[in-house]
Amino acid sequence: MTVVISLVTTTGVNQQYQQLMLKNAFQITEVLAKQAVFPLLSGSEQNAQEAMNQVQGFQAVLAARLLTETQQLFLAVGDYPKLVTPVAPFVQQTDIIAETTNYWLIKTPIKLSANSPLGEESQFELDTNNTPEQIIGYAEIVYSKEYLIEAQNQLTLLISVVGALSVILLSAILHFGLHKLFKPLGDLASTMQLSENTGKHLLAQVNGAKEIQDMANIYNSMMKSLQQQETDLKSHRNLLEKEVEIRTRELVIARDTALMASRHKSEFMANMSHELRTPIQSIIGYSELVTEELELAGNLTLIDDMDKITKNAQRLLFMINSLLDLAKIEAGKIEIKETQVNVNDILISIRDTITPLAQANHNQFICHNNCSLKTITLDKTKLEQVLLNLLSNACKFTQNGTITFTIFCEKANLIFEIKDTGIGLSPEQQAYIFDEFRQVDASQARKFSGTGLGLSISKRFVELMQGKITVSSQLQQGSTFIVSLPIKQIA
Ligand SMILES: Nc1ncnc2c1ncn2[C@@H]1O[C@H](COP(=O)(O)OP(=O)(O)OP(=O)(O)O)[C@@H](O)[C@H]1O
Ligand SMILES: [Mg+2]
Repeated sequence: MTVVISLVTTTGVNQQYQQLMLKNAFQITEVLAKQAVFPLLSGSEQNAQEAMNQVQGFQAVLAARLLTETQQLFLAVGDYPKLVTPVAPFVQQTDIIAETTNYWLIKTPIKLSANSPLGEESQFELDTNNTPEQIIGYAEIVYSKEYLIEAQNQLTLLISVVGALSVILLSAILHFGLHKLFKPLGDLASTMQLSENTGKHLLAQVNGAKEIQDMANIYNSMMKSLQQQETDLKSHRNLLEKEVEIRTRELVIARDTALMASRHKSEFMANMSHELRTPIQSIIGYSELVTEELELAGNLTLIDDMDKITKNAQRLLFMINSLLDLAKIEAGKIEIKETQVNVNDILISIRDTITPLAQANHNQFICHNNCSLKTITLDKTKLEQVLLNLLSNACKFTQNGTITFTIFCEKANLIFEIKDTGIGLSPEQQAYIFDEFRQVDASQARKFSGTGLGLSISKRFVELMQGKITVSSQLQQGSTFIVSLPIKQIA
């Protein structure tokens, strides 16, 4: 806006100044015309020269000349520009007849009128009746624009400086004004940002315009309610933490009590099993002794009964041993004793024990050793107990079928696979058979004998040996149990 005002002002002032200069030039020309009346009438160049000299006294007048009525040159002074070609030689009044960037050529008619200054000594008579104003010649001046251009330049410079100063002043005023207006808004935004970055509920200063004050007030009330909520939340959390602490303490006490009870139970079971084992072992011992004596005496009817006593006592002992193992496992008293074992020896020992069991149910028993390893480090007793459990199950739950026992190596594991063609297990049954005392048929009138401890003890033993035991089976399609043990480096 300042620039536009400056431009408009400059143009306006320039035009006014130009008008003034032109007015001045017109006046000079007209004065010359008046003074040239007598010299033209008298033909006195000397008088004309005087008038011309006076005109030349004006610095802006570059040249002047007087022309006769017929445009003949009467007298000229100064450097009359050659390029000037007047457009209207016969003017009726003062006018600009040519213009360049540097000067104007102004022409005026020299008129002879009743009040022309002819002087007292004039011998010319004016024919006032016919022509009140008679044109007797023309006066021309070349008026320089130099002063106009100089003045215009100075004016332009002055207005530019004033304009620039106004722009600077206005900008400064605007800057300070806007700063004052927007500072409270900026402060509010900074407080909000700081609050977001630090996570603290900082309050903003309330100042500035009414709208900004309203915003700050709303923001502050939000912060206060957030602060209140946080305090409430903290106290609630503290309360909860205390509650959890109390509950945890109670749970720890309950857990310790349960552990203690479990340990007592295991100790009791271990002691009881031990107490039961001794008399049963002596029952077996004595019944075998009596059987031998009856054989010597040839009393065959009693031998059958004695055999039944021995077998039942042996079954009882097996059960007690299983209970004792379980109790020991739960009390954490089972130790793994690793030795260097020949893999083939395991196979032979198992085959010898299982073959009569397999035959009892008319099963075929096949053994394979596909393992390239000759010896391996492991707890032989525990492994054999596991394999006997699995194989005795296979014999028990298969009639007129095949039981295959295979040993092989796979990656870093030694694998024992027990496969039968017996009654099989459904997926639901497979899910619980490794639990203690769990049997598929747990009814009183069940077909198969046992305590339901064999698989759970086997699983615990295998896990103690860092191995795992898995089953895959389908009802009436047989079962496959796999024991996988890590092959340890031979020391
Ligand atoms: N090879 C198998 N085929 C079909 N069912 C099986 C097989 N092996 C185990 N089971 C099922 O899993 C149950 C649990 O077996 P586990 O060896 O733990 O107990 P058990 O043989 O019944 O008794 P125990 O082994 O203590 O004399 C068995 O009662 C039987 O129902
Ligand atoms: Mg069993």
